[in-house]
Amino acid sequence: MFTKDIYIERRNKLRQQIKHGIAVFLTNNEAPMNYPSNTYRYRQDSNFIYFFGLQMPGMVGVIDFDEDKDFIFGDDFTIDDIIWMGNQPTIGDLAARCGVANVQGMDKLTTYISQVQKSGRKVHFLPPYRADNKIFLSLITGIAIENIPAQVSTELIKAIVALRAIKGEEEIKEMDKICDIGVMMHTAVMKDCRIGKTERELAGIAEGISLSYGNGYSFPVILSQDGQTLHNHNHEQILTDGRLLLTDMGAESVSGYSSDYTRTIPVNGKFSQKQKEIYEIVLKANMESIRTAQAGIPYWNIHLNATTIISEGLTQLGLMKGDYKAAAQEGAHALFMPHGLGHMLGLDVHDMEDLGENFVGYDEQTQRSNIFGHASLRCGRKLQKGFIVTVEPGIYFIPQLIDIWEREQKFTQYINYSKVREYLNFGGIRIEDDILITDNGCRVLGQPLAKSVAEIETLMQENH
Ligand code: GLY
Ligand code: MN
Ligand code: MN
Repeated sequence: MFTKDIYIERRNKLRQQIKHGIAVFLTNNEAPMNYPSNTYRYRQDSNFIYFFGLQMPGMVGVIDFDEDKDFIFGDDFTIDDIIWMGNQPTIGDLAARCGVANVQGMDKLTTYISQVQKSGRKVHFLPPYRADNKIFLSLITGIAIENIPAQVSTELIKAIVALRAIKGEEEIKEMDKICDIGVMMHTAVMKDCRIGKTERELAGIAEGISLSYGNGYSFPVILSQDGQTLHNHNHEQILTDGRLLLTDMGAESVSGYSSDYTRTIPVNGKFSQKQKEIYEIVLKANMESIRTAQAGIPYWNIHLNATTIISEGLTQLGLMKGDYKAAAQEGAHALFMPHGLGHMLGLDVHDMEDLGENFVGYDEQTQRSNIFGHASLRCGRKLQKGFIVTVEPGIYFIPQLIDIWEREQKFTQYINYSKVREYLNFGGIRIEDDILITDNGCRVLGQPLAKSVAEIETLMQENH
């Protein structure tokens, strides 16, 4: 974790935005895999990490806006715990690490909250996303579970989004480091990819790297020759000559920060002409987006430009036709790229998505499109210095979607379905980088990762 001053400052910045009531932050509990004491890798709640830094269960953090006080509610470990877990810090020691002066036993929490409520002060809380914490929140606030969504604090959500969206120097350092680990994972896959191996072997190598240098992956590894399935977690296939392999993965640092890269490589180490033609379009969309992303420009504009580049390239190849700019505006490109250009990145791989995508990625000036494809853009609002976002254009040939659109004769003025049918077994290509918005444009985080056709082919062939 960072030094305690960082957490004190973050809580004070929240105080500058919210003047009344208290905010309650729950830790995540251990989550059982198959019986209570056999658990998944522990993951703290990101908002708790942000304001209190402590990565263990069993605590509640409280920020009191009226009285200018912070609390940690929790119980010290007992000798029964210490026998199994080794010596443990007290709750007082833990609270001191994040600069919290007030410590209370968990048995005091419900009474404390009910006193706050009785005095007419607001109890701000965030949308709980785990079932156990929904129940716990209901118990400590007395609000029925079904009424919790309506009583979530929009004021708290907006204040936190404003803080977490702008990354501090200490966070940027962590992001650079964890991006380097993401680069190592992808480089290992490029080096170790061989016809005849299984996808699983490569996924395991990459996951091993993420565990060697951090907390493990930042989301379950996507590594598949069926890259047309956007979030494909199946790794059962044997790597086959002539196919593409799409890998979308990143690592999570010990401090909780995430990286998120995608590369698409030819299994045999050399792109075919057909693969190269599609690859170059996606690469152009990725690089133009990085070239033009800067503070003051809505990410929606960069997204629209990327989809225009994709429509233009596919028109030049004969898969699309007509006015490529209008095609992208109207959403015809979405047959090939049904997702958005990117999302915020930080403590979460889709940063702050638990707080609600529209609060994070949109505002009064930039409203979400309702056109299929464009509607999936997670972040459309104006970029600001300190934002970290992903840039991840793609082109996919999804047979089921092509069948439906052709049957419905959608966008026949823009789509050449007979040509598209020649690509039904193509798979998909996505190229994803992580960028920090700076004073004069943006900077790609992490060490360089092979991306051009020549860089990928050279790296793969040197290692065969
Ligand atoms: N891996 C999830 C994403 O790129 O959005
Ligand atoms: Mn990704
Ligand atoms: Mn991403």
